[in-house]
Formats: sequence, structure tokens, C-alpha cells
Amino acid sequence: MKKNLAQILVIALCCLGSTHLFAQKFEELGQTPPMGWNSWNTFQTNINEQMLKDMVDAYVSSGMRDAGYTYFVLDDGWMSMDRDSNGNLVADPKKFPDGMKAFADYVHSKGLKFGIYNCAGTKTCAGYPGTHGYEYQDARLYASWGVDYLKFDWCNTDSINARDAYTTMSRAIRAAGRPMIFSLCEWGNHQPWLWAKNVGQLWRTTSDIHAGFDKDLSYGSWTSYSVMHILDLQVPIRQYAGPGHWNDPDMLEVGNGMSYAEDKAHFSLWCMLAAPLIAGNDLRKMSDQTKSILTNKEVIAVDQDSLGVEGFRYYSFDGLEIWVKPLKNNAIAVCFLNRSSRQQNIYYNWKDHDITDSVSNMHIDFNGGSYSLRDLWSQKNMGTTDKTFKQSIGSHEVIMLKLSKIN
Ligand code: GLA
Repeated sequence: MKKNLAQILVIALCCLGSTHLFAQKFEELGQTPPMGWNSWNTFQTNINEQMLKDMVDAYVSSGMRDAGYTYFVLDDGWMSMDRDSNGNLVADPKKFPDGMKAFADYVHSKGLKFGIYNCAGTKTCAGYPGTHGYEYQDARLYASWGVDYLKFDWCNTDSINARDAYTTMSRAIRAAGRPMIFSLCEWGNHQPWLWAKNVGQLWRTTSDIHAGFDKDLSYGSWTSYSVMHILDLQVPIRQYAGPGHWNDPDMLEVGNGMSYAEDKAHFSLWCMLAAPLIAGNDLRKMSDQTKSILTNKEVIAVDQDSLGVEGFRYYSFDGLEIWVKPLKNNAIAVCFLNRSSRQQNIYYNWKDHDITDSVSNMHIDFNGGSYSLRDLWSQKNMGTTDKTFKQSIGSHEVIMLKLSKIN
């Protein structure tokens, strides 16, 4: 009997050991799309401790934290140009006079989680020391600082294999022992949706976003994409996203220069896509409109729905689109989007249009039962699917509805 018990224990320990050996990312993280703020879209490398502490304070006082945003992520430019004599990365002492551990402590003291950036190459995109060859050492340093999230970029990678490089960093994080969200940022170049499910919690799907609705920006050697361009690129890859592994269509540009309607459309569609919601505006001087977009809890709830199904384009004609996202409890979100430059009229008889989604096995026939309609931006109830939905929609506007089954 005793022997049997000992044998069982040995087998159990072996199993535990091997699980640990082969496990890579921290499975429990990112069950809903990560929410946070990142320094890049507004500040690029012009960051410093005092400004960032003010941002942390604004994160809390503006209501972002209470709306569900959790991560505070430093992007490129936080380091000194050289590693120290032990090969460790060093926070730039001019930008961070108190050091990175003290800054991380400040972020944590406000009930937030702390994120940082580096790159799989020899240098980051802005020319700071990259992690290539230092994966385990850098992961241990981040863990010692209390890092909870690592964004890992793809510049200066010449002959490096993407899958190998990201897998190595994922294992290094695992070995360092501190749970960290691992955010892959190789811009979709190597189709990470096909191989990164066990490597990280999110992967960028495209080139960098900018605050433009439907026009790309060329920088010569590379092109920054518009919100609509990025949206279109998500259509064929939605089936690869789900709890713990998300397509990342890049950080938000809400509050960074588009019109109110365009910002609402951008935010709504990112929520329809179950995208990570990483704000990129200056939280210290948000307009009330920007704040009302970023903290709209009913719209955020669509993004954070626990089913974790990425939405799809159900209809597209003449600049008018309908996006659908299956939600828990047999509800769905429906987002009308007017991409055209003129006002359009929606005249939509639900009963004429079944909705089928093979990815989530959803089928809705509005003749078989009614749904109540809730407008998530005006936060008003709009009747039911028994009546034709009639509304005008301005250029670049959205109307976002939640449909709930009436029993
Ligand atoms: C790349 C990334 C951006 C940002 C910059 C930093 O372009 O895609 O999101 O991190 O590098 O240099």
C-alpha cells in the first residue's frame, strides 16, 4: 500500500515536472483582451519618470482604471544606450532618476499592473539595446522589477527566425517565474496567428496604426496603416483568436486627432474585434468626449465578453457595413458602420436576415424569437427586432447595438 502511494507520488511529480518543462506562457493570463495604456502613440521615446507618474495619476483620476484598464506599459526609449558591465539593461538615469523598480512600485501602488518593451533583434526600433542573446537575463531583470507585461518588437532581426525568437522569450519569461502577459509585435509578417497560441497572449496583426480613418501614411521604407485598413486585414484571421490568445490590431488612437465620430467608430470596431484595448492618448488632458469613449462600460463589455469570439463583417454594400459579434447568453452585438463620405439611411428588417457564424456555431433567425435592442452609445433601449430598424447614420459614424434574447 505504502509502495503504491510512493509510486503514485513519483508519477504525479514527474507529470508536474514535465508540464512545467513544456509549458511556455502563463495560461491563466489574458482570458479577456488585455486593457491598458502605452506610451508610444503620443510620446514615442520622449518619456520620463515625472511625466509618467502624472500619467499614472491621471489613469486613476480619469476613471480609466475603474472602467477596467489595468496595464501601464512603457514602450521604446526607456533604456540607456548600453548595457552595464554585467550585461544588464539599465533604465536611462536621466529619464528615470529613481530607477525602474521604483517606477514599477509606483504603478503597482495605484492598483495597476506594469508593462515594459523590448525587441527580439539586436536593437529596438528606436535603436536601444535589443534582447537577442540576452533573453533569460532580461526576463529575470524584468521579474525582479515586478514587470507584468512585455511587448516584444521585431526590428533589427536580420536572419533571426521569428517563431524561434518569440518561443525563446516566452520560455525565458516562464523560467523567470513571474506571470507576465507576452505581447508579440512582429506586425503579422510571419502569420503569428498560426503558431503563437501557446507562445503569448496577443500578437500584432499589421503594421503600425496612426490616427487616420481611411488613409495610410507612407514613411518611405514603411507604411503606417489607417483604422479602416487595419480593420479589413482582420477579416480572414478572426478564427485564430480566443481567450488567452488574441489578434492585436494595434493600440488605440482615440483622442489623438480623428473626429469624435471616427474615434467612436475606431473604438467600437476594436471592441467588435475583441481587440486588446491599449489606449495611447495623453490621459492628463483628455477631452470629455475622449473620456466618454474610452470609459463607456457597455461598449467595453462587448470587447470583454467572456465567450471571446472575434466579430465578423456580416454585410457590406456601398460603404455601409454591418459587423456582428456573438456574446454570452445568446446575445449579440451589431455595429452599423458608414465608411462613405455621405449620410446614409438604415432601413433594416431583422426578420429578413438570418445570421449564421460557423466559427462560434451561432445561428439566429429573428422569426424564431425576438431580441431587445440597446443602443450602446446613446445608452437607450430601442425596442425589439420585431420592428424594422430605421435610423440615419452620418459619414464615418457607427451605431452599436446589443441584442438580447427575450424569453
Ligand atoms: C514598432 C512597433 C510600435 C512601437 C515602435 C517603437 O514600430 O510596432 O508599436 O513599439 O516600434 O520603436
